[in-house]
Amino acid sequence: MTKVAFLGLGVMGYPMARHLKAGGHEVTVYNRSAAKSAKWVAEFGGRAAATPKEAAIGQDIVFACVGNDDDLRSVTIGPDGAFAGLAKGAVFVDHTTASAEVARELHAEAAKLGFAFIDAPVSGGQAGAENGVLTVMCGGDAEPFSRVEPVIQSYARACRLLGPVGSGQLAKMMNQICIAGIVQGLAEALHFGKRAGLDVEAVVEVISKGAAQSWQMENRYKSMNAGQFEFGFAVDWMRKDLGICLDEARNNGARLPLTALVDQFYGDVQAKGGNRWDTSSLISRLET
Ligand SMILES: NC(=O)c1ccc[n+]([C@@H]2O[C@H](COP(=O)([O-])OP(=O)(O)OC[C@H]3O[C@@H](n4cnc5c(N)ncnc54)[C@H](OP(=O)(O)O)[C@@H]3O)[C@@H](O)[C@H]2O)c1
Repeated sequence: MTKVAFLGLGVMGYPMARHLKAGGHEVTVYNRSAAKSAKWVAEFGGRAAATPKEAAIGQDIVFACVGNDDDLRSVTIGPDGAFAGLAKGAVFVDHTTASAEVARELHAEAAKLGFAFIDAPVSGGQAGAENGVLTVMCGGDAEPFSRVEPVIQSYARACRLLGPVGSGQLAKMMNQICIAGIVQGLAEALHFGKRAGLDVEAVVEVISKGAAQSWQMENRYKSMNAGQFEFGFAVDWMRKDLGICLDEARNNGARLPLTALVDQFYGDVQAKGGNRWDTSSLISRLET
């Protein structure tokens, strides 16, 4: 049994922390809105802490899954942040999708204080978190990774160290770049199929067995075809992620013309009120 804390019980964090408890670990939770941590403890046991610092005291590993770079800074190095409570030799694992830059900054701060920092963004969405089958992309040092990896397995199907600190976030950027292009392609294909008078569902059932197959095609074509977007991975989150990719590309010189275009298309979806719609809502731009 490992002593762990989990900071941020959102769509992803709530079930991830549940898997840690089910895996036999001793779990302390913290959430900014205390009602959620009280609900979590009532459901699964463990302990709720009032601040990230209090949650971090005495733990072997502290996990976080909050919104963006600033949220992450707030729960780590902000007032009553976890870094003030972590013991020497402990490990902080960040599951937030954030920039590689903030990962490097927090890794350096952690090193000064005598503990380790691993950036470990995830892919697999709410269903992946609920079912404990996330893909976890890690950056950091090999020794602390070897200590946290068996614990991360509580909610992962794949977990791999991909290089030094920041590499997990850079890998997640590759993931989001792939998704942006794929969802736009799928949206255009479905839109085209309808205009052509095809039975789109029948076509997808066939072409999803061939080279056009993708997770987005298999899991999203029905709801895209039906114009249903009130679920899933929010457009606001996707724009945050694509912004991070485009910033990184400006630094490393990569050319991301399609990603930049799709980012603007998501801006159109936001302008018509789709901030919380699933990323598959790109098709709504074509159908109005
Ligand atoms: N949802 C997905 O499908 C998915 C998939 C892969 C990756 N991700 C990434 O995972 C992260 C979390 O996503 P989510 O869907 O779980 O988001 P969410 O449901 O909005 O939850 C965000 C959590 O972070 C907390 N939080 C936000 N800002 C904070 C701050 N300044 N101080 C303290 N706590 C703060 C929130 O607390 P409150 O409850 O008080 O608001 C909440 O617990 C994001 O980086 C997202 O991009 C999400």
